[in-house]
Amino acid sequence: MKQGLFITLEGIDGTGKSTQLRLLVQHLKKRRLAVRVTREPGGTKIGERIRKILLASATARLAPLAELALMYAARAQHLQEVILPALARGEIVLSDRYNDASLAYQGYGRELGAETVRAFDRIICARIQPDLTILLDLAPRLSLQRAHGRQSRRKSKQERFELQGTNFHKRVRDGYLAIARKEPRRVKVVQADGPLAEVQAKIRKLVDTFLARRRKRS
Ligand code: TYD
Repeated sequence: MKQGLFITLEGIDGTGKSTQLRLLVQHLKKRRLAVRVTREPGGTKIGERIRKILLASATARLAPLAELALMYAARAQHLQEVILPALARGEIVLSDRYNDASLAYQGYGRELGAETVRAFDRIICARIQPDLTILLDLAPRLSLQRAHGRQSRRKSKQERFELQGTNFHKRVRDGYLAIARKEPRRVKVVQADGPLAEVQAKIRKLVDTFLARRRKRS
């Protein structure tokens, strides 16, 4: 039986998600909560190998359905090795992306459609859906500027998804916002265009409120 809590962070590339996640972890650890931090695609040895295939610009010809299947292959491994055991131990699992990313990126971005993604989801994710999802929202025009700036600072090659144009990221954003409209209790939208500390304060408030409510219920 699931006992812990599953929180995910989502958003298009360049919303500052990784930084915000790091700050949120500091906050939760200060509160002495048992947190298992992880990410997708990846989170396990096998998953990180799959991630390399997915993000390499050399894999430009990867078919959209192959991309979707690899995302869910990594997720199946992640669930079995990391997420389910941590939840069973009663920990808070905090994941940088999970299945909403597949619906937004592959379903909307790659235009595979929601039904195709949900078919995979029914098989792989079954009952394990996030309890709370923080969606960092930002206009693709701004987020891509940030993502590109970061790449050139690191002098690294652009990753496959960052090489996609603005229209792709617009579809992904629309996908995320559609999920948030459909599940407003689970998915909380945070505007990511403000100063870092302000965005973090909003995230902490949402997470703290959620944890307090859960505690009252149990
Ligand atoms: P992420 O680790 O957030 O990127 P980075 O750390 O480089 O900023 O995610 C990697 C990419 O994978 C990102 O562009 C979104 C994409 N992705 C999908 O397309 N589908 C998915 O199901 C997941 C989990 C990620």
